[in-house]
Amino acid sequence: MKKQILIIGNWKMNPATSKEAIGLARGYTTISIPKHIEIVSAVPFPYLESIKSVYRSSKIKLALQNIYPSDAGAHTGEITFSMVAHLKPAYVLVGHSERRAMGESDDFLAQKVGYALKKNVVPVLCVGERTRDDSGQFLSVIKEQLQKGLALVSKAQISKVVIAYEPVWAIGKDATREATHEECREMMVFIKKVISDITGNSKQLPRIIYGGSVDDKNALDFINLGKADGLLPGRLSLDIKKITKLITILASYATSQKSKN
Ligand code: PGA
Repeated sequence: MKKQILIIGNWKMNPATSKEAIGLARGYTTISIPKHIEIVSAVPFPYLESIKSVYRSSKIKLALQNIYPSDAGAHTGEITFSMVAHLKPAYVLVGHSERRAMGESDDFLAQKVGYALKKNVVPVLCVGERTRDDSGQFLSVIKEQLQKGLALVSKAQISKVVIAYEPVWAIGKDATREATHEECREMMVFIKKVISDITGNSKQLPRIIYGGSVDDKNALDFINLGKADGLLPGRLSLDIKKITKLITILASYATSQKSKN
């Protein structure tokens, strides 16, 4: 296995209180994390500071759930990197479907991706279709989100971005159904093709992860058969027992892959 498996837990607007958030973060520090797995918590802004201190002697990294692509200015309610730079966030989610649903356009998301790279924070560009159709129109939705979202990134820098494929119909408690590992694999191939068409380079590709109703039962299939480089679990990331189980399963898979190489 070349790369580490990347697991970004998207806590969304949870837990409800700082005390619970600290409790959850403490739970994460009890998980034994092998070196071939990278664990990241995308936590609400107000909890970043205290969770950073809970994670201070652990390998777990922090992600921002959002960022405003400008250093300062009249942007009520927004947050920029200099405000959180001392907490050294490693990643920032860009274009999660819940933010796209609030009206964030592809052009605005492209600014965030470019801005994050400039600030040395890895952008995780989330793409995903709202529905699927038999004629494969959903593929052009993904292609457009990728082309527009990466429009301000130089060809040489595209491999630094992480792409999260998250079909909207598979996200959250109202999901229509879970995605299959075949659907995941097909999308991993498609996204690689779109990106290599942009860069003209099929060797240096970004990491592509999968999100949408990931749990301890389907996680290994998305990695092993679905060929995702990692996962972006939402609800599961709030359940310390299940996330521990997921990491244990992936750890033994990664070890078995390593011994094959
Ligand atoms: P879910 O959320 O795992 O609860 O479906 C995933 C996401 O929205 O990132």
